[in-house]
Amino acid sequence: MFNPAQIGSLKIPNRFIRSATAEFAANPDGTVIDEYYKLYTDLALGEVGLIIQGHLYIMDEGKAHDKMAGIAHDYHLDGLKRIVQSIHNTSTGSKVAAQLNHGGFHSVSKKAPSKRDEKNDRVMTEDDIENIILNFGNAALKAKQAGYDAVQIHAAHGYLVSQFLSSKLNQRTDSWGGSLENKAQILLSIYQRIRSQVGSNFPVLVKMNNSDEPHEGFPVEEAAKVAKWLAEEGLDAIEVSGLRSTRTKFEDEAYFSKNARIIKKNIGDMPLSVVGGFRSLKVIQQLHQEFADFVSICRPFIREPDLVKKFREGKEISDCISCNKCFKPPLIITCLDKEN
Ligand SMILES: Cc1cc2nc3c(=O)[nH]c(=O)nc-3n(C[C@H](O)[C@H](O)[C@H](O)COP(=O)(O)O)c2cc1C
Ligand code: SF4
Repeated sequence: MFNPAQIGSLKIPNRFIRSATAEFAANPDGTVIDEYYKLYTDLALGEVGLIIQGHLYIMDEGKAHDKMAGIAHDYHLDGLKRIVQSIHNTSTGSKVAAQLNHGGFHSVSKKAPSKRDEKNDRVMTEDDIENIILNFGNAALKAKQAGYDAVQIHAAHGYLVSQFLSSKLNQRTDSWGGSLENKAQILLSIYQRIRSQVGSNFPVLVKMNNSDEPHEGFPVEEAAKVAKWLAEEGLDAIEVSGLRSTRTKFEDEAYFSKNARIIKKNIGDMPLSVVGGFRSLKVIQQLHQEFADFVSICRPFIREPDLVKKFREGKEISDCISCNKCFKPPLIITCLDKEN
């Protein structure tokens, strides 16, 4: 876990990934505040190999919640560049990726793939979909221009792309719904558009659900097929997550690993990372030996940004108790477990 590894053309100093973590601290216009720079400097000084920044909205109408940062306009870029620099200026060699997102019916636009019961939702038109694909591409180009080492498409956790992938939420009868090929078309199209914008050498990643459990609209067999198609298209790495992404029961360490293992069998040499409940170095190393090229962690890095360094120096288990109190920080994402 502590040795360098590649994702496409990118050399990463170790196999620990900081899974994207919303900072809940941006200004109303999506620009970032000064506190972001210390947050990201600390993660880099703590020796995280690849830091994936909290999700960024790719267009105003895809903003998923208050205090979310954006990468939709040129005026977003100055602050984002400073985040990248604060990571690159450390001597640890940490790399940084921008996670690109559209909230779908969770966003201000309330647009959904198909009709739901919620009264404010609006069904997306073909033009809406094409426009979103273009905006993902534009945002990826902005990320490259801002100096990020990679981009990640957010296709998990109930946001827009995962809404399309799940037959429970996507009941379209046109070419964007129905068969798995149709449901996955938006993700493949976003990937292709991004690739055409950033070129063949720039790493592009996807974070995707292992399934849409507890529903049955995107079983693991479908997730494995979509991951295979992405690998065939030239995707650089996949990060496997799930719908109930932040479980609170500590005993559930590595809760998506069973299905991540199934997905790994389908994707050839494409690197895979798995996220969800990793807390102890022993489990991390075991799953790395078995199948996971990288391991992704979120909440433990909120509590201990220097956890990788501590692991390297002999610490065995994170202090994070998975209580989820950190979702509502007073200023910027921080551990709110009072006893820490
Ligand atoms: C406060 C908080 C913010 C999060 N923000 C994001 C995000 O912006 N993008 C994302 O893909 N996942 C996000 N997640 C989910 C995490 O990346 C991760 O998938 C999940 O927390 C499980 O990993 P963990 O058990 O190591 O925390 C967030 C989780 C938390 C706790
Ligand atoms: S508030 Fe709870 S879940 Fe969040 S980092 Fe602290 S201990 Fe972990």
